[in-house]
Amino acid sequence: MNIFDQSSRILISCQKFLGDILANEVRQMGYDVKLQTPSVVEINGNMDDCIRLNLNLRTASQVLFFIRSFHAENAEELYLRSKQIPWEEILLPEVYFSITGFVNNATINNSMFANVKLKDAIVDRLRDVFNTRPSTGNNLDAAAIHLHWNQSFVEIFVNTSGDSLARHGYRKIPGTAPMQEALAAAVILSTKWDKKTPFINPMCGSGTLGIEAALIASNRPPGLFRENYAFMHLKNYSKEKYLEEKTTMEANVTDDNIPPIVCSDISSNAVHISKLNAKAAGVYRFIKFELCDFRDTTVPDGESGVVLLNPEYGERLGEESELEEVYVNIGDFFKKNCSGYTGYVFSGNLDLAKRVGLKPKRKIPFYSAKIECRLMEYELYRGTRRILSEFGED
Ligand SMILES: C[S@@+](CC[C@H](N)C(=O)[O-])C[C@H]1O[C@@H](n2cnc3c(N)ncnc32)[C@H](O)[C@@H]1O
Repeated sequence: MNIFDQSSRILISCQKFLGDILANEVRQMGYDVKLQTPSVVEINGNMDDCIRLNLNLRTASQVLFFIRSFHAENAEELYLRSKQIPWEEILLPEVYFSITGFVNNATINNSMFANVKLKDAIVDRLRDVFNTRPSTGNNLDAAAIHLHWNQSFVEIFVNTSGDSLARHGYRKIPGTAPMQEALAAAVILSTKWDKKTPFINPMCGSGTLGIEAALIASNRPPGLFRENYAFMHLKNYSKEKYLEEKTTMEANVTDDNIPPIVCSDISSNAVHISKLNAKAAGVYRFIKFELCDFRDTTVPDGESGVVLLNPEYGERLGEESELEEVYVNIGDFFKKNCSGYTGYVFSGNLDLAKRVGLKPKRKIPFYSAKIECRLMEYELYRGTRRILSEFGED
């Protein structure tokens, strides 16, 4: 079995609720989506497809290439069945590999135990065949195997990504409460932004939203910032397809017609960090940085575009009441300064979000660091057109 010569199911995982956006990304790459859940998109393809997906997807976490399924009632059966897989045809003799996984089996209290059983099966098989012992551990910077064990049904995948794709690799300094890059990309791809009109991000923090917007507008995929993927550590991997894909990505980058992108924050440290991160991402020249209160952020007149804010949402006691005024002021800022635009507030606190005082046209669910969040969309009509249902939730 040479896994570089065969087609199989490919499962692409993502953070919960990003499934729709990920499926759109996958379709735009020309793939036929076979199945979709809030956190997984499935297609058929080969390892060349895995390479393309790893390099190009903005909202994915891991690309998993299916190897085999079987039934196992307990850890011993998992070990025995896993040892039957010809790992010597997938992994190199002196490989370093790690196990990722999901386990829901009545006999297993700790999923680490199941991972260790699978690891032992692979190590024992490779040692029997090659007479050398591979090394294993938790680092995801070499080969990786993924276990999905639900009740008695086991599926084994090659994890072709290793370290999560959700981190896009350019962020050198996180700042306080940064948005994960894949989440920021998904939030932007959920808005009405057309990549031609202004993208305004007051309260930019470490700049993730503005930087992701610039990366999207200039066609710079995450693969430009990453040199190491788990697929590179598999047996029979050769560099050609990877280099070909990298060349295509570089050729598709466009620095023309990038619309105005503005990032502002009241904290000089946040603006400083945003600039450093934007430089690392190669998009510094596309972003106008401003040190100011969010209400003084430049919103180009007479345009339509997107104004997107991710304010703090008060996870600690007492913070919420202090933040109420901020959310009220966001509503005023939208009404006074942003007419003609579509306004968005990303928040993990729905009570605070109501203080914006405008009726959201859409409320899109997301998760950020295990907190359920919403992206609220507000139509900010220009001129005499009234903002319907002001001060009302539906
Ligand atoms: C939750 S963080 C934004 C995180 C950001 N999305 C990121 O990925 O790093 C909120 C930001 O709002 C800024 N902020 C708070 N009050 C502000 C105000 N009145 N005007 C402008 N920025 C403000 C804070 O300095 C902080 O950087």
